[in-house]
Amino acid sequence: MTDRRFDTLAIHEGHEDFAPDSMSTPIYQSVAYPYADAKEAAEIFRAEKPGYTYGRWDNPTVRVFERRMAALERTEAALATSSGMAAIMTLGHQMLEAGDEFVSSNRVYGGTFGLFDEGFRKMGVKVNWVTTPESLDAWAAAVTPRTKFMFVESPSNPGLFIGDLPALAALAKQHGLPLVADNTICTPALQLPTTHGADIVVHSTTKYICGNASSLGGIICGPAEFVEGIRQGCQRYLGPAMSPFNAWLNLNGLETLSLRMERHCSNAMALATMLEKHPLVGSVNYPGLASNPFNAVGGKQVRGFSSLMSFVLKGTYDDAVTVIDALDLMIHATHLGTAKTIVTHPASTTHSAMGEEELKKAGIPPTLIRISVGLEDEADILADIEQALDKVGSAVSTAG
Ligand SMILES: Cc1ncc(COP(=O)(O)O)c(C=O)c1O
Repeated sequence: MTDRRFDTLAIHEGHEDFAPDSMSTPIYQSVAYPYADAKEAAEIFRAEKPGYTYGRWDNPTVRVFERRMAALERTEAALATSSGMAAIMTLGHQMLEAGDEFVSSNRVYGGTFGLFDEGFRKMGVKVNWVTTPESLDAWAAAVTPRTKFMFVESPSNPGLFIGDLPALAALAKQHGLPLVADNTICTPALQLPTTHGADIVVHSTTKYICGNASSLGGIICGPAEFVEGIRQGCQRYLGPAMSPFNAWLNLNGLETLSLRMERHCSNAMALATMLEKHPLVGSVNYPGLASNPFNAVGGKQVRGFSSLMSFVLKGTYDDAVTVIDALDLMIHATHLGTAKTIVTHPASTTHSAMGEEELKKAGIPPTLIRISVGLEDEADILADIEQALDKVGSAVSTAG
């Protein structure tokens, strides 16, 4: 089926001949799969016969989602996990030994920052942060003889940094290292990191892929040997498996992913354009804007800039709080990538563990407001932010 195109694969790929067959992939809510006899059990365990062994590393519903994601990300294989963080933790565990190092942009989701900085340090592994990730020289300078891989989140959450994937992949190759890309924000509907040289792609499927805030999930997409190595290895002893029900929810999400991403992009572009002109807004981080420093590099590797954006309010932290609390349509939550528009204050929530100094280095001031633009009517989204900004505007004019 893989010669078919993206939108067809997103709906059909990986569906087996289930018995009885069904339009919707059946949910195999079971951790074990009884065998006909001892011979069959042994053959399945030795991979001489297709079949399933135990739910921590294989399940028919989850397998459909894995096959579909591998096809969409154009990798040989994929392994689903219980969350995006579980995917990143698992692939790190697979690639690193105590004493090893790896290189990462510091423009990453706060949980990823914590895992790299603290979680892997506890395993005896050191992250070499690239604090100016737009500079290829800075990446090169961070590589040491102990480096095992390079990691880039592109676009990044919440600053919308975009890495030059072909240049990073060439640098990684020059040093004999794999490049791992977190493609959560664009999804494969908008960006295919492996076509730009990345070796492994990781996702929080909790976000746009699921699309409605109903299930946590993650996925690692990459070469079959690497992915199946995880399945036979640390997937078994760490146990970060995706539940069959969550795989089913994600399969439903994939069916409409492409269409949803188009609308996410157009709504986000409209909001970013409006915010850029607003007198109370100091700057807007949305790489779809022509004025954005990542517009040019991003334009070469994405089909659209997705719908995560952030903006820095002129004024104080209290003004940011006034805006957030005045929003009526937008939902105030620590999430992104859903049909509903979500507003978040990263410095005090998702990225608070980074501390003041690291937040400053990563370009996340207390006046930064993040918005994950949803699928509602564009005019209603714009009207909501207008009225919330007016609250600060009127406070400023009253005070003045
Ligand atoms: C870019 C990115 N990667 C990974 C994660 C972690 O995903 P999860 O919440 O599914 O563990 C997030 C969460 O926000 C994210 O934004």
